[in-house]
Amino acid sequence: TPRVFSGIQPSGGLTLGNYLGAMKNFVQMQDAGDFETIYCMVDLHAITVWQDPEALRRNTRELCAGYLAAGIDPERSILINQSQVPEHAQLAWIFNCVARMGWMGRMTQWKDKAGKNAEAASLGLFAYPALMAADILVYHTTHVPVGDDQKQHLELTRDIATKFNHDFGVEFFPITEPVIRGAATRVMSLRDGTKKMSKSDPVDASRINLTDDADAIAKKVRKAKTDPEPLPESVDALEARPDVRNLVNIYAALADVAPQAVLDEKAGGQLGYFKQDLADLAVAKLAPISTEMSRLMTDPAEIDRMLARGAERAREITVPILERTYEIVGMVR
Ligand code: TYM
Repeated sequence: TPRVFSGIQPSGGLTLGNYLGAMKNFVQMQDAGDFETIYCMVDLHAITVWQDPEALRRNTRELCAGYLAAGIDPERSILINQSQVPEHAQLAWIFNCVARMGWMGRMTQWKDKAGKNAEAASLGLFAYPALMAADILVYHTTHVPVGDDQKQHLELTRDIATKFNHDFGVEFFPITEPVIRGAATRVMSLRDGTKKMSKSDPVDASRINLTDDADAIAKKVRKAKTDPEPLPESVDALEARPDVRNLVNIYAALADVAPQAVLDEKAGGQLGYFKQDLADLAVAKLAPISTEMSRLMTDPAEIDRMLARGAERAREITVPILERTYEIVGMVR
Protein backbone atom coordinates (compact mmCIF):
# COMPACT_ATOMS: atom_id res chain seq x y z
CA THR A 1 0.00 0.00 0.00
CA PRO A 2 1.12 3.55 -0.67
CA ARG A 3 2.47 5.25 2.41
CA VAL A 4 2.04 8.85 3.55
CA PHE A 5 4.40 10.69 5.89
CA SER A 6 4.38 14.32 6.93
CA GLY A 7 5.57 16.45 9.82
CA ILE A 8 5.06 19.76 11.59
CA GLN A 9 7.52 21.59 13.82
CA PRO A 10 6.55 21.95 17.50
CA SER A 11 8.08 25.40 17.60
CA GLY A 12 5.00 27.00 19.13
CA GLY A 13 1.62 27.98 17.81
CA LEU A 14 -0.21 26.19 15.01
CA THR A 15 -1.65 28.60 12.46
CA LEU A 16 -4.49 28.50 9.96
CA GLY A 17 -1.71 28.03 7.38
CA ASN A 18 -0.58 24.80 9.03
CA TYR A 19 -4.19 23.66 9.22
CA LEU A 20 -5.29 24.40 5.65
CA GLY A 21 -1.94 23.73 3.97
CA ALA A 22 -1.15 20.55 5.85
CA MET A 23 -3.31 19.08 8.63
CA LYS A 24 -6.61 19.18 6.78
CA ASN A 25 -5.04 17.16 3.96
CA PHE A 26 -3.44 14.79 6.48
CA VAL A 27 -6.90 14.00 7.85
CA GLN A 28 -8.36 13.56 4.36
CA MET A 29 -5.64 11.14 3.35
CA GLN A 30 -6.12 9.18 6.57
CA ASP A 31 -9.88 9.04 6.06
CA ALA A 32 -9.61 8.11 2.36
CA GLY A 33 -8.26 4.77 3.56
CA ASP A 34 -6.03 4.04 0.54
CA PHE A 35 -2.85 5.01 2.38
CA GLU A 36 -0.94 3.99 5.43
CA THR A 37 -0.51 7.35 7.18
CA ILE A 38 2.26 8.47 9.52
CA TYR A 39 2.29 11.95 11.08
CA CYS A 40 5.07 13.46 13.10
CA MET A 41 6.02 16.23 15.49
CA VAL A 42 9.51 17.11 14.30
CA ASP A 43 11.17 18.14 17.55
CA LEU A 44 14.67 17.58 16.16
CA HIS A 45 13.92 20.07 13.40
CA ALA A 46 12.56 22.58 15.91
CA ILE A 47 15.88 22.78 17.77
CA THR A 48 17.76 23.93 14.66
CA VAL A 49 16.92 27.29 16.23
CA TRP A 50 17.10 27.58 20.01
CA GLN A 51 14.01 26.42 21.91
CA ASP A 52 13.38 26.85 25.58
CA PRO A 53 13.31 23.23 26.88
CA GLU A 54 10.09 23.52 28.88
CA ALA A 55 8.39 25.35 26.02
CA LEU A 56 9.51 22.66 23.56
CA ARG A 57 8.01 19.92 25.72
CA ARG A 58 4.75 21.82 26.05
CA ASN A 59 4.63 22.72 22.35
CA THR A 60 5.23 19.10 21.36
CA ARG A 61 2.29 17.94 23.47
CA GLU A 62 0.17 20.82 22.20
CA LEU A 63 0.95 19.89 18.60
CA CYS A 64 -0.07 16.33 19.39
CA ALA A 65 -3.34 17.68 20.81
CA GLY A 66 -3.72 19.72 17.62
CA TYR A 67 -3.33 16.64 15.42
CA LEU A 68 -5.92 14.76 17.47
CA ALA A 69 -8.35 17.69 17.61
CA ALA A 70 -8.08 18.17 13.83
CA GLY A 71 -9.11 14.56 13.30
CA ILE A 72 -6.00 12.39 13.30
CA ASP A 73 -6.93 9.04 14.82
CA PRO A 74 -3.94 7.44 16.60
CA GLU A 75 -5.27 3.99 15.75
CA ARG A 76 -5.71 4.49 12.02
CA SER A 77 -2.61 6.68 11.66
CA ILE A 78 0.76 6.35 13.34
CA LEU A 79 1.34 9.51 15.37
CA ILE A 80 4.89 10.09 16.56
CA ASN A 81 7.38 12.51 18.01
CA GLN A 82 10.54 12.48 15.87
CA SER A 83 13.18 12.07 18.60
CA GLN A 84 11.33 9.01 19.95
CA VAL A 85 12.04 7.15 16.71
CA PRO A 86 15.86 7.29 16.63
CA GLU A 87 16.15 5.87 13.11
CA HIS A 88 15.23 9.29 11.70
CA ALA A 89 18.42 10.84 13.08
CA GLN A 90 20.48 7.77 12.21
CA LEU A 91 19.44 7.81 8.57
CA ALA A 92 19.94 11.58 8.50
CA TRP A 93 23.65 11.07 9.16
CA ILE A 94 23.94 8.83 6.11
CA PHE A 95 22.08 11.44 4.07
CA ASN A 96 24.43 14.16 5.34
CA CYS A 97 27.10 12.17 3.52
CA VAL A 98 24.99 11.82 0.35
CA ALA A 99 23.68 15.40 0.02
CA ARG A 100 26.06 18.04 -1.35
CA MET A 101 26.87 21.38 0.31
CA GLY A 102 25.81 23.14 -2.89
CA TRP A 103 22.35 21.58 -2.82
CA MET A 104 21.77 22.72 0.75
CA GLY A 105 23.10 26.20 0.09
CA ARG A 106 20.47 26.69 -2.64
CA MET A 107 17.52 26.07 -0.31
CA THR A 108 15.46 29.27 -0.09
CA GLN A 109 14.34 28.43 3.45
CA TRP A 110 17.99 28.21 4.53
CA LYS A 111 18.74 31.53 2.87
CA ASP A 112 15.71 33.18 4.50
CA LYS A 113 16.30 31.77 7.96
CA ALA A 114 20.08 32.16 8.08
CA GLY A 115 19.74 35.67 6.70
CA LYS A 116 22.80 37.82 6.32
CA ASN A 117 24.65 36.14 9.16
CA ALA A 118 24.99 32.53 7.95
CA GLU A 119 28.19 32.15 10.00
CA ALA A 120 26.11 32.33 13.18
CA ALA A 121 23.42 29.84 12.05
CA SER A 122 23.51 26.33 13.49
CA LEU A 123 24.97 23.49 11.45
CA GLY A 124 21.65 21.75 12.04
CA LEU A 125 19.77 24.53 10.25
CA PHE A 126 21.95 23.97 7.18
CA ALA A 127 21.50 20.18 7.32
CA TYR A 128 17.76 20.51 8.03
CA PRO A 129 16.57 19.16 4.63
CA ALA A 130 18.70 16.00 4.94
CA LEU A 131 16.92 15.16 8.20
CA MET A 132 13.63 15.86 6.46
CA ALA A 133 14.59 13.46 3.66
CA ALA A 134 15.42 10.87 6.34
CA ASP A 135 12.01 11.37 8.01
CA ILE A 136 10.35 10.57 4.72
CA LEU A 137 12.59 7.84 3.34
CA VAL A 138 13.07 5.86 6.58
CA TYR A 139 9.47 4.71 5.94
CA HIS A 140 9.89 4.24 2.18
CA THR A 141 7.17 6.87 1.94
CA THR A 142 5.47 7.31 -1.43
CA HIS A 143 3.38 10.48 -0.83
CA VAL A 144 4.10 13.60 1.24
CA PRO A 145 1.29 16.13 1.82
CA VAL A 146 2.68 19.63 2.53
CA GLY A 147 2.04 23.32 1.95
CA ASP A 148 3.59 25.06 -1.01
CA ASP A 149 6.63 26.31 0.97
CA GLN A 150 8.00 22.75 1.39
CA LYS A 151 8.14 21.98 -2.34
CA GLN A 152 11.85 22.66 -2.70
CA HIS A 153 12.68 20.42 0.28
CA LEU A 154 10.73 17.61 -1.34
CA GLU A 155 12.65 18.03 -4.59
CA LEU A 156 15.84 17.69 -2.56
CA THR A 157 14.44 14.53 -0.97
CA ARG A 158 14.03 13.07 -4.46
CA ASP A 159 17.59 14.12 -5.33
CA ILE A 160 18.97 12.42 -2.21
CA ALA A 161 17.05 9.19 -2.94
CA THR A 162 18.24 9.23 -6.55
CA LYS A 163 21.88 9.83 -5.62
CA PHE A 164 21.86 7.18 -2.89
CA ASN A 165 20.36 4.60 -5.26
CA HIS A 166 22.87 5.57 -7.95
CA ASP A 167 25.95 5.67 -5.70
CA PHE A 168 25.25 2.22 -4.29
CA GLY A 169 23.75 0.69 -7.43
CA VAL A 170 20.44 -0.18 -5.78
CA GLU A 171 16.73 0.56 -6.27
CA PHE A 172 16.19 1.04 -2.56
CA PHE A 173 14.68 4.42 -1.74
CA PRO A 174 11.47 5.41 -3.57
CA ILE A 175 11.14 8.71 -5.41
CA THR A 176 8.38 10.36 -3.39
CA GLU A 177 5.47 12.42 -4.73
CA PRO A 178 4.66 15.75 -3.10
CA VAL A 179 0.93 16.23 -2.51
CA ILE A 180 0.22 19.97 -2.56
CA ARG A 181 -3.51 20.40 -2.89
CA GLY A 182 -6.55 22.38 -1.84
CA ALA A 183 -7.51 26.02 -2.29
CA ALA A 184 -5.04 27.25 0.34
CA THR A 185 -1.62 25.71 -0.31
CA ARG A 186 -0.12 29.06 0.65
CA VAL A 187 -2.12 30.98 3.24
CA MET A 188 -1.00 34.59 3.43
CA SER A 189 -0.84 37.10 6.27
CA LEU A 190 -4.12 38.82 7.12
CA ARG A 191 -2.20 42.11 7.25
CA ASP A 192 -0.24 41.70 4.00
CA GLY A 193 -1.44 39.39 1.23
CA THR A 194 2.05 39.16 -0.28
CA LYS A 195 3.59 37.63 2.87
CA LYS A 196 3.13 34.05 4.08
CA MET A 197 1.07 33.59 7.24
CA SER A 198 3.61 32.51 9.82
CA LYS A 199 3.83 31.75 13.52
CA SER A 200 6.99 33.83 13.66
CA ASP A 201 5.31 37.06 12.50
CA PRO A 202 5.55 39.47 15.46
CA VAL A 203 2.02 40.81 14.72
CA ASP A 204 -0.52 38.37 16.16
CA ALA A 205 -3.36 39.92 14.10
CA SER A 206 -1.54 38.71 10.94
CA ARG A 207 -2.54 35.12 11.64
CA ILE A 208 -5.24 32.90 13.08
CA ASN A 209 -3.84 30.55 15.70
CA LEU A 210 -5.52 27.19 16.21
CA THR A 211 -5.63 28.11 19.91
CA ASP A 212 -7.58 31.35 19.26
CA ASP A 213 -11.10 31.40 20.70
CA ALA A 214 -14.20 32.31 18.67
CA ASP A 215 -13.99 36.03 19.52
CA ALA A 216 -10.35 36.32 18.52
CA ILE A 217 -10.94 34.45 15.24
CA ALA A 218 -13.91 36.64 14.29
CA LYS A 219 -12.14 39.86 15.20
CA LYS A 220 -9.01 39.01 13.18
CA VAL A 221 -11.04 38.09 10.09
CA ARG A 222 -13.16 41.25 10.30
CA LYS A 223 -10.02 43.37 10.63
CA ALA A 224 -8.17 41.64 7.79
CA LYS A 225 -6.66 44.08 5.31
CA THR A 226 -8.63 44.42 2.05
CA ASP A 227 -9.37 47.02 -0.62
CA PRO A 228 -12.72 48.83 -1.02
CA GLU A 229 -13.82 47.11 -4.28
CA PRO A 230 -16.60 44.48 -4.23
CA LEU A 231 -15.83 40.81 -4.96
CA PRO A 232 -15.16 40.19 -8.68
CA GLU A 233 -16.83 37.64 -10.96
CA SER A 234 -13.73 35.66 -11.77
CA VAL A 235 -10.63 34.43 -9.92
CA ASP A 236 -8.45 35.97 -12.65
CA ALA A 237 -9.44 39.40 -11.34
CA LEU A 238 -8.00 38.42 -7.94
CA GLU A 239 -4.44 38.23 -9.31
CA ALA A 240 -3.95 41.93 -8.70
CA ARG A 241 -5.69 41.85 -5.29
CA PRO A 242 -3.59 39.54 -3.10
CA ASP A 243 -5.34 40.44 0.19
CA VAL A 244 -8.78 39.64 -1.19
CA ARG A 245 -7.54 36.57 -3.03
CA ASN A 246 -6.17 35.24 0.26
CA LEU A 247 -9.55 35.59 1.98
CA VAL A 248 -11.36 33.93 -0.94
CA ASN A 249 -8.88 31.05 -0.88
CA ILE A 250 -9.27 30.65 2.88
CA TYR A 251 -13.05 30.64 2.51
CA ALA A 252 -12.85 28.06 -0.29
CA ALA A 253 -10.52 25.80 1.68
CA LEU A 254 -12.66 25.95 4.83
CA ALA A 255 -15.82 25.26 2.81
CA ASP A 256 -14.15 22.53 0.70
CA VAL A 257 -15.03 24.19 -2.61
CA ALA A 258 -13.02 25.84 -5.41
CA PRO A 259 -12.29 29.59 -5.16
CA GLN A 260 -14.33 30.20 -8.35
CA ALA A 261 -17.35 28.58 -6.67
CA VAL A 262 -17.05 31.12 -3.84
CA LEU A 263 -17.12 33.98 -6.37
CA ASP A 264 -20.00 32.40 -8.29
CA GLU A 265 -22.01 32.74 -5.12
CA LYS A 266 -20.73 36.05 -3.79
CA ALA A 267 -19.55 38.19 -6.73
CA GLY A 268 -20.60 41.82 -6.44
CA GLY A 269 -20.86 41.64 -2.66
CA GLN A 270 -19.09 44.15 -0.42
CA LEU A 271 -16.00 42.95 1.41
CA GLY A 272 -17.50 43.87 4.78
CA TYR A 273 -20.27 41.30 4.34
CA PHE A 274 -17.90 38.72 2.91
CA LYS A 275 -15.60 39.09 5.90
CA GLN A 276 -18.55 38.57 8.23
CA ASP A 277 -19.46 35.34 6.37
CA LEU A 278 -15.84 34.23 6.48
CA ALA A 279 -15.64 35.00 10.20
CA ASP A 280 -18.73 32.83 10.83
CA LEU A 281 -17.35 29.99 8.71
CA ALA A 282 -13.91 30.18 10.35
CA VAL A 283 -15.41 30.14 13.84
CA ALA A 284 -17.66 27.19 12.95
CA LYS A 285 -14.71 25.16 11.60
CA LEU A 286 -11.90 26.23 13.94
CA ALA A 287 -13.37 26.99 17.36
CA PRO A 288 -14.22 23.30 18.02
CA ILE A 289 -10.59 22.40 17.29
CA SER A 290 -9.33 24.95 19.78
CA THR A 291 -11.79 23.73 22.44
CA GLU A 292 -10.79 20.10 21.92
CA MET A 293 -7.10 21.02 22.09
CA SER A 294 -7.54 22.63 25.50
CA ARG A 295 -9.45 19.59 26.72
CA LEU A 296 -6.71 17.20 25.56
CA MET A 297 -4.01 19.38 27.12
CA THR A 298 -5.50 18.74 30.56
CA ASP A 299 -4.15 15.17 30.38
CA PRO A 300 -0.52 15.32 29.17
CA ALA A 301 0.19 11.83 30.54
CA GLU A 302 -2.34 10.40 28.11
CA ILE A 303 -0.63 12.24 25.24
CA ASP A 304 2.73 10.83 26.32
CA ARG A 305 1.31 7.30 26.40
CA MET A 306 -0.08 7.75 22.90
CA LEU A 307 3.28 8.95 21.59
CA ALA A 308 5.14 6.06 23.19
CA ARG A 309 2.76 3.66 21.48
CA GLY A 310 3.14 5.50 18.17
CA ALA A 311 6.93 5.24 18.39
CA GLU A 312 6.69 1.48 18.96
CA ARG A 313 4.54 1.03 15.89
CA ALA A 314 6.77 3.30 13.80
CA ARG A 315 9.89 1.38 14.71
CA GLU A 316 8.43 -1.82 13.29
CA ILE A 317 8.86 -0.06 9.96
CA THR A 318 12.00 2.02 10.50
CA VAL A 319 14.32 -0.49 12.19
CA PRO A 320 14.41 -2.95 9.25
CA ILE A 321 14.78 -0.14 6.68
CA LEU A 322 17.69 1.41 8.60
CA GLU A 323 19.30 -2.02 9.04
CA ARG A 324 19.12 -2.67 5.31
CA THR A 325 20.53 0.82 4.62
CA TYR A 326 23.55 0.12 6.86
CA GLU A 327 24.15 -3.13 5.00
CA ILE A 328 23.99 -1.40 1.62
CA VAL A 329 26.46 1.26 2.80
CA GLY A 330 28.90 -1.37 4.14
CA MET A 331 28.60 -1.13 7.91
CA VAL A 332 29.53 -4.28 9.86
CA ARG A 333 26.40 -5.38 11.72
P1 TYM B 1 6.33 23.66 9.24
O1 TYM B 1 6.32 23.20 10.65
O2 TYM B 1 6.92 24.99 8.92
O3 TYM B 1 4.86 23.65 8.65
C1 TYM B 1 4.05 22.47 8.74
C2 TYM B 1 3.19 22.35 7.50
O4 TYM B 1 2.36 23.50 7.35
C3 TYM B 1 2.52 24.06 6.06
N1 TYM B 1 2.38 25.51 6.14
C4 TYM B 1 1.58 26.24 5.35
N2 TYM B 1 0.75 25.88 4.35
C5 TYM B 1 0.06 26.87 3.75
N3 TYM B 1 0.17 28.18 4.09
C6 TYM B 1 0.99 28.58 5.09
N4 TYM B 1 1.07 29.86 5.43
C7 TYM B 1 1.74 27.58 5.76
N5 TYM B 1 2.64 27.61 6.79
C8 TYM B 1 3.01 26.34 6.99
C9 TYM B 1 3.91 23.65 5.63
O5 TYM B 1 4.04 23.67 4.22
C10 TYM B 1 4.01 22.26 6.19
O6 TYM B 1 3.41 21.31 5.34
N6 TYM B 1 10.10 21.13 7.20
C11 TYM B 1 8.73 21.03 7.61
C12 TYM B 1 8.48 19.93 8.61
C13 TYM B 1 8.97 18.59 8.21
C14 TYM B 1 8.38 17.73 7.24
C15 TYM B 1 9.17 16.55 7.25
C16 TYM B 1 7.32 17.86 6.37
C17 TYM B 1 10.00 17.93 8.76
N7 TYM B 1 10.15 16.69 8.20
C18 TYM B 1 8.88 15.48 6.39
C19 TYM B 1 7.03 16.79 5.51
C20 TYM B 1 7.83 15.61 5.53
C21 TYM B 1 8.32 22.34 8.24
O7 TYM B 1 9.12 23.09 8.74
O8 TYM B 1 7.00 22.55 8.30
